[in-house]
Amino acid sequence: MHQARFISFEGIDGCGKSTQAHLLTNYFSAKGVDVMRTREPGGSPGAEAIRALLLTGATDKWSAETELLLFTAARRDHLEKTIEPALMAGQTVICDRFADSTRVYQGATRGDLREKVDHLHKEMIGREPDLTLIIDVNPKIALARGLARNSGEDRFEDFGLVFQEKLRDGFLKLAESFPDRCIVVNGNRTTEEVFKDLLTLTQL
Ligand code: TYD
Repeated sequence: MHQARFISFEGIDGCGKSTQAHLLTNYFSAKGVDVMRTREPGGSPGAEAIRALLLTGATDKWSAETELLLFTAARRDHLEKTIEPALMAGQTVICDRFADSTRVYQGATRGDLREKVDHLHKEMIGREPDLTLIIDVNPKIALARGLARNSGEDRFEDFGLVFQEKLRDGFLKLAESFPDRCIVVNGNRTTEEVFKDLLTLTQL
């Protein structure tokens, strides 16, 4: 039996990580690995309800502080109800965004909240993925892809290009501060090329 792993995907809006998470889940599954794909904010009924509050509406709907509390509440529920039970049952978990998104989005770019982010994470979440794949793309390309989806959940995309550039820097710095689990993957390539790299990086 393969050891259950907790793998997260991170990156700016429209970086292609959801597509890659999907492909990797299917690949693992085809290889006989017991695997589940989930996402944040969301991934459990309670957290999905919080997701709807967070991702729709005007950009000034919540302050960064309130967002931090809502994202952390959603994550706590997701961890309790979905991620931990799956890992305990021996399932590999592939998660589209996790705590690194809060570190970067709320902690580094929308008010200097990083200390509070770290504090809440320690008290309420207290775990990191085994492996974090950061899909790094040019913010101009990513923004065009993200808005093109027109998902109705564009509150963060609506902050604009300068915001996405800050996010990109934030994710690259984060990768440097967690070198044991973070790997930056060049996402400015075709889906197939990026996925080929992921297969090498996540070898069973
Ligand atoms: P989503 O539609 O899932 O975007 P993507 O497909 O690009 O992941 O929306 C998630 C949005 O929420 C995204 O803009 C990032 C933001 N976010 C935070 O600001 N903090 C967080 O802790 C998380 C998990 C997401």
